[in-house]
Amino acid sequence: MSVLAILIAALGALLSFIYYLLQRRMNYWRHRGIPHDPPHFFAGNLKGLMKTRSFAEILREIYDHHRGSGPFCGYYLFQRPAVLVLDRALIKSILIKDFNNFADRGIFHNEKDDPLTGHLFRLDGQQWRGLRNKLTPTFTTGKMKFMFPTILKVADQLMIAVSKRLVADEHVWDWKEMMACFTTDVIGNCAFGIECNSLQDPNAEFRVMGRRIIGSRRHGPLINAFINSFPKLARRLRMAIMPQEITDFFLRIVRENVAYRERNAVHTNDFMSILMDLNKGKHLKSENDQMRALSVSEMTAQAFVFFVAGFETSSTTLAFALYELALQTKLQERLRQEIEATIKKHNNEFTYECMEDMHYMKQVLAETQRKYPIAPNLMRQAAADYVVPGHSNYVIKKGMMVTIPTIGIHYDPAIYPEPDKFDPERFSADALRLRDSVDWLPFGDGPRNCIGMRFGQMQMRVGLTYLLRRFKFTTSEQTQIPIVFQKTFPLFPEGGIHLRVDGI
Ligand code: HEM
Repeated sequence: MSVLAILIAALGALLSFIYYLLQRRMNYWRHRGIPHDPPHFFAGNLKGLMKTRSFAEILREIYDHHRGSGPFCGYYLFQRPAVLVLDRALIKSILIKDFNNFADRGIFHNEKDDPLTGHLFRLDGQQWRGLRNKLTPTFTTGKMKFMFPTILKVADQLMIAVSKRLVADEHVWDWKEMMACFTTDVIGNCAFGIECNSLQDPNAEFRVMGRRIIGSRRHGPLINAFINSFPKLARRLRMAIMPQEITDFFLRIVRENVAYRERNAVHTNDFMSILMDLNKGKHLKSENDQMRALSVSEMTAQAFVFFVAGFETSSTTLAFALYELALQTKLQERLRQEIEATIKKHNNEFTYECMEDMHYMKQVLAETQRKYPIAPNLMRQAAADYVVPGHSNYVIKKGMMVTIPTIGIHYDPAIYPEPDKFDPERFSADALRLRDSVDWLPFGDGPRNCIGMRFGQMQMRVGLTYLLRRFKFTTSEQTQIPIVFQKTFPLFPEGGIHLRVDGI
């Protein structure tokens, strides 16, 4: 046999072996007798992802198809068998009761070569635990109250920006973009101590960076799929996902900011000051303390995640809320009346306590987040094999990704009848008493829920309060009804949310 023939035979054998392994992988759920939809050989159950279908649509379809069949169904994240949870008891076990086995998300991070990925959302294991402990005190009610006046100042800027456009006889524009400028300025102020001025200039540096973070990728879809499917291997190969200019920008901003504050002995109560204290080791109780001080690049990664997680989530939710209130102006008026009455009750002052006293406001935002959960799912990874209590044939293997389909639950007619209807009464005190806590998951749940939930809620409530006191929102010819969603991972509206605005 010639050398060439041996090589061809060896290659053929190798390809057959790879095919056999892949085939075995793609039959994982069939062999275990767990309900699932037949997967595509390469795309698994994500066929058309980002092109013709969003992740939210795919999840909803799988959830609707298998709901009631058992505690979970199987699906394939490309080539990777994964679990999609279908029942409440299991959701509670994963997020809360058996959290210790599901504390990780198992997504890519590489602090060394890609420093901005070393943040709370991406880290796992002890690294996550230590950091979560350090950062939790950043989000207490006391800290929120300190930041409240900063948000009010930015809300004043928002009023000026809206008024200017109305004076120029402009009445219809994209409120997703306007709200993104508002929350960028809020987070820029609180996380970086920087006046971003996006409301005055939509092309201000931070707003441009915000758009780039959401819109640009370091790699194409194939390499991204590889990194997402094999995060540990990708880290060993020293791969990175963050575009270099974004890393350079945030490292520079934080270094400059720290140097300025140290030179001028600036100490405020914003996130950056708290991160600087962690950098100086002020939280350490003794020299032998298990927790160590944060390095500058670790600080930067946290400020970065506060920025990324904090602006687009809240701004898009705000835009969705305005959209629903523009469609149902009676609800808008009811909320406006509550705002006025509550401020009157609090001696005509809009304080933190006054904001907390607005109950219909909370209902409107809760219903907005039910209908539009920006993160359509939650992710966890099993640390060890897990047999679902009471279902011995349902086993979540060590290392397996677990998906909790928030969007499926939020649109389940057995939990929320007529799920497409926007109805804040679903969140009245009486209705809440009848529902399970895990039936509403826009911020996740358990020890790994959204750390910034209260901050997000605060900036959304302030934004709505200021806007509804001064302006009326209605739909216009440019309003896309119903909303069409982008095919991206988060639930974003295609083409923005155009509404008509008039002064009151
Ligand atoms: C409407 C606003 C927001 C929404 C809808 C939202 C949603 C979420 C969700 C769904 C998670 C995952 C929770 C889980 O897996 O159980 C999360 C985690 C996180 N969020 Fe938010 N978020 C919002 C605002 C914020 C803000 C304002 C900040 C920071 C200032 C923030 C920082 C984070 C961080 C750091 C994590 C990771 C927590 C961890 O893994 O320990 N988020 N958020």
